[in-house]
Amino acid sequence: MDSFIIRGQTRLKGKIEISGSKNSSLPIVATGLMTDEKITLHGVPRLSDIDSMLKLIGELGCHVYRHEPKSKSVAEGGPDLNGPLDIQVESEKNCEARYDIVKTMRASICVLGPLLAKRGKAVVALPGGCAIGDRPVDLHTRGLEKLGATFRIENGNIIGEVPKGRLKGCRMYLGGAQGPTVLGTINVMCAAALAEGETVLVGAACEPEVTDCGELLIKMGAKIKGHGSPEIRIEGVDKLHAAEHRVIPDRIECGTFMVAAAITNGELELKHCNLDHLIAVVDRLEEVGVKIERSNGTIYVNAARRLNPIEMTTQPYPGFPTDIQAQLMALLSIGDGMSVVTERIFPDRFLHVGELNRMGAKIRKEGPTAIVHGVKELQGASVMASDLRASAALVLAAMAARGTTRIDRVYHIDRGYEKIEQKLNAVGAQIERVKAA
Ligand code: EPZ
Repeated sequence: MDSFIIRGQTRLKGKIEISGSKNSSLPIVATGLMTDEKITLHGVPRLSDIDSMLKLIGELGCHVYRHEPKSKSVAEGGPDLNGPLDIQVESEKNCEARYDIVKTMRASICVLGPLLAKRGKAVVALPGGCAIGDRPVDLHTRGLEKLGATFRIENGNIIGEVPKGRLKGCRMYLGGAQGPTVLGTINVMCAAALAEGETVLVGAACEPEVTDCGELLIKMGAKIKGHGSPEIRIEGVDKLHAAEHRVIPDRIECGTFMVAAAITNGELELKHCNLDHLIAVVDRLEEVGVKIERSNGTIYVNAARRLNPIEMTTQPYPGFPTDIQAQLMALLSIGDGMSVVTERIFPDRFLHVGELNRMGAKIRKEGPTAIVHGVKELQGASVMASDLRASAALVLAAMAARGTTRIDRVYHIDRGYEKIEQKLNAVGAQIERVKAA
């Protein structure tokens, strides 16, 4: 397992190209199961989570081929650090998503809707929990049941079938106790695209990743309206066809690097991001005192040294994303005054608090809320990565801290940040990746 050794007190300055969105690519790759023809995807990042999903659809009978990039430079619409990805179903025989894959990447659940819609059968290992809390899938199965699927749980697997041969559309409410479900919305939207008749999803998630997947389905011949709003209307079609699509930029990577500029009192030019996808993050960072400007697909971020304390509560989109909560907390741990961070989506998502406190932060948890007393500076320390975004927060803290920080188990970071040390070192960070002894 690799570790990062990070020299602190570095000030970031320069340009970073934002990669394609992990959280858009994962369900979009699964959409390849829904047609017998080839789909070609551009901008899919090279990440371990993407590798897991490609391995999974390979086991489900898809041929996957990643072309070499035509150029290392920016292509029209986004960075072509990686070549286009071709996906084509060759066999529909195996319908089982094995636990070995699902346990490492719970987004595997997004093959459930496509498999039921296209093949009428799916066996998907129950994802179980992860570092940020229980990851139930009851909203996924409830929505698919309303379309006519039946489910039973056997030996840790969800076994889904479509007894009447084809799913049937209906009007349904899809929200849960913590609000909408992103992957649940995508699963049911995918299934409804091939169902008989009209489906109306009320209480749908509005995240840009839902919109992006809906855009691809429409290119494949689906009839979808309202994707990206709380009410999605889908008119089922008999089949979907070949399509080509570029995934949206990764708004969470972009937000992470916006915080990186702020926490190091640096100046970053972030290319290929869509600031409209980060309006709540911009709102909170400007309240902290960070200057953010944009022109076309580029964001200019720099921070006045004095960081104001703020309050922030994570919300479903367009609210402040839970996936940037840890990163913002790292920023708020340096400065004056007391900030209040409340996590409404995953109430246990505070594994970064103990590690930040090891670096001299003064953060106290009170249930779903963390009270952050700003300190003058953090100190380098040995800390442990735990989940993807908590680990990113530790990298940010380490770049600002006095002294050197060692972060173990950085495989968590490799799940969701493409070439993170290369990108940050190119703008002034001093991050060394070392193999664990
Ligand atoms: C997606 O996960 C993202 N992952 C997560 O990003 C992100 O944190 C999350 O949405 C919220 O924005 C991908 O897109 C691959 P949810 P998802 O269903 O869809 C509860 C990252 O760091 N819930 O929107 O699985 C759930 O417990 C990852 O990149 C149910 O109760 O999240 C949570 O409290 C982490 N029943 C809330 O809803 C269900 O059936 C939102 O979860 C499903 C969810």
